[in-house]
Amino acid sequence: MVEQVKFTEKTIDYAKNPRNQGEMADANAIGEVSNPDCGDSTVMYLKVENDIIQDVTFETFGCAAAVASSSILTEMIKGKTVEEAYKLTEEAVADELGGLPEKKLHCSVIGIEAMRKAIANYRNGVVRSDD
Ligand code: FES
Repeated sequence: MVEQVKFTEKTIDYAKNPRNQGEMADANAIGEVSNPDCGDSTVMYLKVENDIIQDVTFETFGCAAAVASSSILTEMIKGKTVEEAYKLTEEAVADELGGLPEKKLHCSVIGIEAMRKAIANYRNGVVRSDD
């Protein structure tokens, strides 16, 4: 029997109408992460000036929870310093969506990790890295 996964209205909305989705041509920090278990991936594009995240977009190739999590994360970090954004956790993202089902909590991780990788690249003075 297939178990039903219950999403909040907000999660469904962000999965169906993702905010800030798409590549950013003039991003100066990019982070890409794949989940080795399911193969889903997220790319975060940041435009950072003086340590402030001026703009952010994302591309997620994956499940609805990953799309919704990555999308709402972009709204959470826009205007924040890279330090504030780096400290955000997957729990904060899940809370912002009104909660995620236990077995989908891990889906909020790739957005956070992609953002942290982008910030690490920014701090290292590179746009993107291959690791
Ligand atoms: Fe892969 Fe959700 S199942 S990120």
